[in-house]
Amino acid sequence: MTTQQKKINAAKMALKRIRPGMCVGLGTGSTTNEFINLLGQKKQLLKTLRYASSSIQTEIFAKNYSIICEDIDQFDQLDLTVDGADEVSRHGDMIKGGGGALLREKMLASISKDYLIIVDDTKMVEYLGKFPLPVEIINFSPNTTINLLKRAFKKCNLDPEIVMRVNSDGSNVITDGGNIILDCHCEEISDPNLLKEKIEEIPNVITSGFFLNMLNSVFVGDEKGSTEVFFE
Ligand code: 5RP
Repeated sequence: MTTQQKKINAAKMALKRIRPGMCVGLGTGSTTNEFINLLGQKKQLLKTLRYASSSIQTEIFAKNYSIICEDIDQFDQLDLTVDGADEVSRHGDMIKGGGGALLREKMLASISKDYLIIVDDTKMVEYLGKFPLPVEIINFSPNTTINLLKRAFKKCNLDPEIVMRVNSDGSNVITDGGNIILDCHCEEISDPNLLKEKIEEIPNVITSGFFLNMLNSVFVGDEKGSTEVFFE
């Protein structure tokens, strides 16, 4: 069984939640793309829906199925958003932003009535932190920001390596919002809520890849199919 098949299994579960006429938020990444591939087969249903996307990448991918994404400002509320995650802890907290779309993903989540996270089972972890925590910052004074971040991490007894996210040619990755991303290699984060607070109070920080206290459940794909795992 490939990881891709597990992602498809999780995506199938989310597809069952789609009803005609809904306003749907589309996340970013390979798992969300599997959801879009499945939705793309439902020709009648997909025509009845309206869409907002969390990235230019998703917008382009969705066009393969004639799914046209509208500006997020066109929606007061979305019925649901379907998105992936880089890590989901046993408390239902997440690290997201591996694909660099964290800001817009958070925007979609914040106007969605239902927030469906679809992952393969390798994303389920005891504690967050093995996956480097992305921090999106204004494209200005990265070194000073790294120093301020180091201080924030120290308050949480962490001393991560912090690296600028770069493209294969060595240039900085620039997000859809024109910002840059610092990846913070922590290994294990015992108090994500405190760390999030400390990181997000730094003036140059736009947002972090912490998506905390946002989930009641997650759809997990594995070899056998998929399971909805609930959090307390
Ligand atoms: C992008 C994200 C993605 O949801 C996350 O990186 C998971 O991606 P994939 O489904 O490819 O594993 O947060 O910013």
